[in-house]
Amino acid sequence: MQGVTVVDHPLVQHKLSIMRKKETSTASFRRLLREISLLLGYEVTRNLELTTEKINTPMEEMDAPTLEGKKLVFASVLRAGNGLLEGLLDLVPAARVAHVGLYRDHDTLEAVEYFFKAPSDLGDRLVIVVDPMLATANSAIAAIDKLKERGATNIRFLCLLAAPEGVERFTKAHPDVPVFTASIDRGLNEKGYIMPGLGDAGDRMYGTK
Ligand code: PRP
Ligand code: URA
Repeated sequence: MQGVTVVDHPLVQHKLSIMRKKETSTASFRRLLREISLLLGYEVTRNLELTTEKINTPMEEMDAPTLEGKKLVFASVLRAGNGLLEGLLDLVPAARVAHVGLYRDHDTLEAVEYFFKAPSDLGDRLVIVVDPMLATANSAIAAIDKLKERGATNIRFLCLLAAPEGVERFTKAHPDVPVFTASIDRGLNEKGYIMPGLGDAGDRMYGTK
């Protein structure tokens, strides 16, 4: 699929399989999500632009590669996005953070917004939107609609699992936003859950039901 990168690294796939198991505890699920976020973060930031800076090593002066431009923004789609966010901030500690509070209405599957806070200069920064699940894509589309409304133009979307239906809807709605995921599963069930999936990511992360 165009614009979609499936991160098939063996460590990602192994950890994801453990997360999918219904007997995996809340503590293990959270730990694995954090570990996977480091590996996914490596892929989603792979082609960041570099510039050079003159530095002095103990031996001599050199032009050393450094990241170009303003600090990037991680935009976490609450709640479950925070599971990816924590690891990503270990990887890029100077990143800025946006929070987009959305929940899926259980009957309509529409995304309902309840919170939004982001740096004011989104237009000057790369914005990496993070949410473990891309199911119908209603939440991801709504989050990115909002970030674009607030000026973001350079956006990537990072998730753990995607449904083919969600990927298709998402890439139609936001063809300019590349998607990174660890898996594209079989499809959605009648309640909008990803199959075989891993269940409700937020509930599994926080032990709610
Ligand atoms: C989950 C998930 C996504 C959304 C995906 O969140 O974290 O945000 O569902 O589904 P969609 O693609 O069909 O919109 P949920 O609404 O359950 O909220 P939570 O993270 O607070 O549990
Ligand atoms: N949200 C989840 O947390 N899991 C799904 O399977 C679909 C949406």
